[in-house]
Amino acid sequence: MFSSIGPSRPDPIMSLMEQYLADDCPHKVNLGIGLYYDGEGTLPLLNSVHEAQQRLMTQERPHSYPPIEGQAQFREAVQRLIFGHSAQQTALTTLQTLGGSGALRLGAELLRQLGVCRIHLPDPTWPNHLAIFSVAGLTPESYPWYDNANGELLIDALLDRLATLPEGSVVLLHPACHNPTGMDPSPDQWRSILDTVERRRLLPFFDAAYQGFGAGIEQDIAPVRQALERGLPFLLSHSLSKNMALYGQRVGSLSLHCPDVAAINVLGTLKGLVRSSYSCPPTFGSDIAATVLNDAALHQCWRDETEAMRLRILAMRQRLATELNANGAGLDIGRITRQRGMFSYTGLSEQQVDTLRQDFSIYLVNPGRICVPGLTERNVDYVAASIASVTR
Ligand code: LMR
Repeated sequence: MFSSIGPSRPDPIMSLMEQYLADDCPHKVNLGIGLYYDGEGTLPLLNSVHEAQQRLMTQERPHSYPPIEGQAQFREAVQRLIFGHSAQQTALTTLQTLGGSGALRLGAELLRQLGVCRIHLPDPTWPNHLAIFSVAGLTPESYPWYDNANGELLIDALLDRLATLPEGSVVLLHPACHNPTGMDPSPDQWRSILDTVERRRLLPFFDAAYQGFGAGIEQDIAPVRQALERGLPFLLSHSLSKNMALYGQRVGSLSLHCPDVAAINVLGTLKGLVRSSYSCPPTFGSDIAATVLNDAALHQCWRDETEAMRLRILAMRQRLATELNANGAGLDIGRITRQRGMFSYTGLSEQQVDTLRQDFSIYLVNPGRICVPGLTERNVDYVAASIASVTR
């Protein structure tokens, strides 16, 4: 019965995490999976999240089923966070999902049901995009994003490609903190991208997993808000895994802006897809997020904590660049400080990444992606010296 099941290729990011955990080297460094570590190298429990959690624990509520689409207080709070004062749009609908990945999968299944056959992804993109969309039955195709040799965004090639896509083509866009490259378009370049999307009547599928880690909470979601202001139809997967450090709670959402149909019909279809898959979402993580977002003091505390995480990432980028320079690393160091968000695409080769892991117990995702908040004042000198030694 199961004899046709052969060995499968492990997920490159999750399997690296397993290798890191199994490594008994005392000075190992995890620069692999996208986890935010604080200055002590610890995964934080944010004060805002801790306080919300305490409040929920004292309520001693029974664990009922939530609505298929998630609790209203969560969905409305997330809509306000994403869309600001435009959140009241009637053509907008938001569902709670199993993290950002769950939102991508749900969106993919909706697209498949609508007869969409392919999705255009930036080259490179998060490896799991390919898996999620392929398994849902969409053929992934790529459009130019980044020139790894020169460390530059390929804005002209990207616009040229978008301009040749057939009307209705679905294009995945990272609104900020591009994963894996950390190269984001400028506000002017975003305007040109959205102009092309509008002119060619393309359908953007935004993936916002790092709101607040790039230029700030409001700035990082600006392309999505601009798409809404232009009245463009779009899908948006959104995650609170990183910016609330709620990774394992799987707190995400899928939003759709569909000006040409009744949002209630779209919601009904999405609810059908959820019900036939995992029935309804889990509640504890989303209750925490709703408590944080709906309480003025906790909300402000969370904004401050997110800004502190953003600034620490920026500081570590700068520190790494300084140390790489001081160690004479044979690398285009300027790109590390030009890039934004959780990741840096260093330009290190697969072989150099393998040597860093095997000889120095420093874990990076190939080819050459560093999760910058894995760096601390304690390990940055060691990391810089090790990178310098493999690049000389
Ligand atoms: C990453 O890119 O490392 C994160 O998005 C975590 C993941 O699930 O891959």
